[in-house]
Amino acid sequence: MRATDVAQANTRQTDFGSGAELAEALADKVADALAAAITARGNATLAVSGGNTPKAFFAALSRREIDWDRVTVTLVDERMVAPSHERSNHRLASLFLLQNKASEAGFVPLYHENGDAAAVAEMASEKIDALALPFDVVVLGMGTDGHTASFFPGGSTLQAVTDPGCRQSVMSIEAPGAGEPRLTLTLPRIVEAGLIVLHIEGEAKKAVLAKALGAGPEAEMPVRAVLHHAKTPVEIYWAP
Ligand code: 6PG
Repeated sequence: MRATDVAQANTRQTDFGSGAELAEALADKVADALAAAITARGNATLAVSGGNTPKAFFAALSRREIDWDRVTVTLVDERMVAPSHERSNHRLASLFLLQNKASEAGFVPLYHENGDAAAVAEMASEKIDALALPFDVVVLGMGTDGHTASFFPGGSTLQAVTDPGCRQSVMSIEAPGAGEPRLTLTLPRIVEAGLIVLHIEGEAKKAVLAKALGAGPEAEMPVRAVLHHAKTPVEIYWAP
């Protein structure tokens, strides 16, 4: 089967009329998946992305009534900056998600102040490996360059972090489009999740996704690595 057929077959897309509508629907979807995991296993794990797109979804999810004290939240990726820094994904999650009902949730940061990015990634990897894996829910975003998580085109460790056999759960990566050095979950931790969501908004990203679903190397558009290797269909949530 061609990679493009795999990518096409491995996705389910839902389009919404607005970002606000999408945020509520996605919050319901994620809350239901977390509640089901809590019923099945007594706890649940969620990995979320940073950037601008997730803010409304985070706020909506933070108001959902589930047993948040049984949920552990972490990050799909992080910038090598302190939680007080405006570009920190930890800070974003604290300001928008870990509020209201969701303030009861546990949170596992990826960043640590001691060490260079590679050493911090190893520490974060140990913390992630101590969680009840696979993740119940992973929510991804995508850049207009076709990156997802911190799988950036031209990234220093792109081949390793998008290797389906990668044995380390968190690795560091540096890339022209990334700004700071990054810490990122590696491909296996993402594609093995119970629910994988790709949340994108805007016409530009819709066009980028259409290209990513077509033929071409994963290194050119690393979101393809997720589309090609996801163990469950990727739920694509789009709004204008
Ligand atoms: C990050 C993210 C990254 C993000 C995309 C889209 O830390 O930057 O986790 O993968 O999802 O860059 O970002 P926007 O939502 O800001 O377009």
